[in-house]
Amino acid sequence: MIVCKEQSGIFTLHTRRTTYQMKVNRYGVLLHTYYGPRVRDCDLSGLIRQADRSFSPNPDEAGSDRSFSLDTAPQEYSTCGVGDFRLSSVEFELPNGSHATDFRYAGCRTERGKYALEGLPAFYGEDGETLVIILEDAAAHAAIELYYGVLEEFDLITRAVRVVNRGSETLRLCRCASLCLDFLRADMDFITFDGRHAAERCLNRAPLRPGVQSADSVRGASSHQHNPFVILCDGDAGEDHGLCYGVMLLYSGNFLAAAERDQFENSRLVMGIHPRHFCWSLAPGESFTAPEAAMVCSPDGFGEMSRQFHRAIRTSLIRDGRSRQRKPVLVNNWEATYFDFDTEKLLSIAREAAALGVELFVLDDGWFGARSDDSRGLGDWQVNTDKLPGGLESLVPRLHALGMSFGIWVEPEMVNEDSELYRAHPDWVLQTPGRAPARGRGQLALDFSRREVRDHVYGQLRQVLSSAPVSYVKWDMNRSLTDVWSAALPPARQGEVYHRYVLGVYDILERLRRDYPDILLEGCCGGGGRFDGGMLYYTPQIWCSDNTDAIDRLRIQYGTSFCYPVCAMGAHVSAVPNEQNGRITPLAARGIAAMSGAFGYEMDLGRCTAEEKEEIRRQIATCKAHWELFHWGDYYRLTGSSGPFTAWEQVSPDRRQAVVSLVSGGAQAAPPFLNLKLKGLDPAREYRMSDGGVMGGDVLMSAGYPLPPFRGDYQSMQLFLEAVE
Ligand code: GLA
Repeated sequence: MIVCKEQSGIFTLHTRRTTYQMKVNRYGVLLHTYYGPRVRDCDLSGLIRQADRSFSPNPDEAGSDRSFSLDTAPQEYSTCGVGDFRLSSVEFELPNGSHATDFRYAGCRTERGKYALEGLPAFYGEDGETLVIILEDAAAHAAIELYYGVLEEFDLITRAVRVVNRGSETLRLCRCASLCLDFLRADMDFITFDGRHAAERCLNRAPLRPGVQSADSVRGASSHQHNPFVILCDGDAGEDHGLCYGVMLLYSGNFLAAAERDQFENSRLVMGIHPRHFCWSLAPGESFTAPEAAMVCSPDGFGEMSRQFHRAIRTSLIRDGRSRQRKPVLVNNWEATYFDFDTEKLLSIAREAAALGVELFVLDDGWFGARSDDSRGLGDWQVNTDKLPGGLESLVPRLHALGMSFGIWVEPEMVNEDSELYRAHPDWVLQTPGRAPARGRGQLALDFSRREVRDHVYGQLRQVLSSAPVSYVKWDMNRSLTDVWSAALPPARQGEVYHRYVLGVYDILERLRRDYPDILLEGCCGGGGRFDGGMLYYTPQIWCSDNTDAIDRLRIQYGTSFCYPVCAMGAHVSAVPNEQNGRITPLAARGIAAMSGAFGYEMDLGRCTAEEKEEIRRQIATCKAHWELFHWGDYYRLTGSSGPFTAWEQVSPDRRQAVVSLVSGGAQAAPPFLNLKLKGLDPAREYRMSDGGVMGGDVLMSAGYPLPPFRGDYQSMQLFLEAVE
């Protein structure tokens, strides 16, 4: 609910359980008064107290009032150069060389439904509401529109920012955050999700210390190293208690999430496109829209915050009801064959898989151009008929005959120098004049900021997709961007290329979605290097990590689950010893780890023993029978990911069904007997369990479920619960 009191300049957003408020002060500055658990409708600006502070300047309008300073006031969208020395949200380079910005309140409007952003990902919802607050900077001749979207039942508030040049000269916008969030406290922890290739989204938590701390990416993608999702929370917040604020940026390129604890024990979070390498020229009348950010505040710890993000992402970000449909169980040939395959080899993998219940065959890298290894062929999206005589036209019907649908891997943003595309258009890659571009995995990046480049690539993709019925596309991106300079833009506009590249990727993904609405898209960037809310708007699932080891995956999927729902995490069972780390884990543990994800196999199932095949058949049947519980159930983390075992649980929204999954670590001699406390059940009901027992919901949650002793490494348990009628 949006309560807009224009007279008193108070704007209050209420969600089911939270309240967010801003107020225009006597000088027209838009102050942030409150964000937290829901409170009654009232003026909360009394919480803001200010005094004359040395070295905190006072704006001209304040006259002799030395108590007001931008340096000490909590602001809704921070400015720079005129008194606020903390993190800035917006900065220009004005025609006169000044960088100062100073925005004051100029008006507001409300809209029914949640706003959309052209060319950018955004939450949607007809039931949502929109508030737009307009600010103006008279000296800069610029206006800012602050967008707020309210999706009440998910406790989700979205933000976006549009900057308009109202003057007669070009403005250079060199910083434009999507969100600024001020707190009248600094006793909070800052949580980020960091890592590297094959070890993404590891939770890191530390108290805010004086100064600025941040998570960011300047790699052109949101990156394996940091994620555009962060949390600020009470120092003692845990899964089920404590106040926490989760903030995600729906963006897949360079980003900065910076938190600052200031001199007076206040704090500020600013999140948006990374200002490094960014500068956007705004001609008179033009506008720039910063990507959307979304916040969930939970008064009851991380668990509820995550569940609200999951619900919102499943219902109002992933499109076309995709998260509502059961995903086909797939087999992907990558780890089974790498580049070395022919039709027979693929069909033999498919045959074995189909017999066990697999429904979709995904042909990974190596099917096109002269792609015999990863140094050639990227850019030539025509079938390599030496490997696949007769092309897809011949392969796909044979898969269909086995009862399988067909999916294909592409990496449209990239090119190898050894390719027809590069030989024809060497000037289409990102490169700086006079400097040979750096290679990543032996490849260069195409300049996706250019329309003609995108059109060409899309034309090639269309040919592939119309040559045979394709029901799934895995869109990969296997290097970080360097040498980001576009031949299509003048020197003064080179600071636009990173963002235009991302807009270009979104443009093609949107075209794919529009032209092939039945194709299921999976995002990928060397696994989880572009796992963000921006991609999820276009690709309902993302390959979570190139690391398919079940034990490493427990940690990666645990970190990922703080923001993103399990239905969005591509997760496959692969062969042992694991390709990435050499670990040997039981098939059962691999199945359980992957089942809380978009499930599939990444191995030659023909190499399995009869016993293993039987187990795989059971895994697939379980996954199909309970997909709704796995993907739409409320997700509870029952443990962390570094203890003797990792456990989690999904509970159906009506609390009649639940599944508990557990995977233990290394073997222990004389292990202690442990009782695992479940969550989210109905305390009044009794539950029949798949181990044959019956226990009360209250008992399972308060006293726990007696775990069997585990013998050996990486043991696992999957327990289904059904309410007794
Ligand atoms: C990336 C992906 C893998 C696989 C390879 C193919 O690394 O993450 O799953 O598709 O590319 O080259």
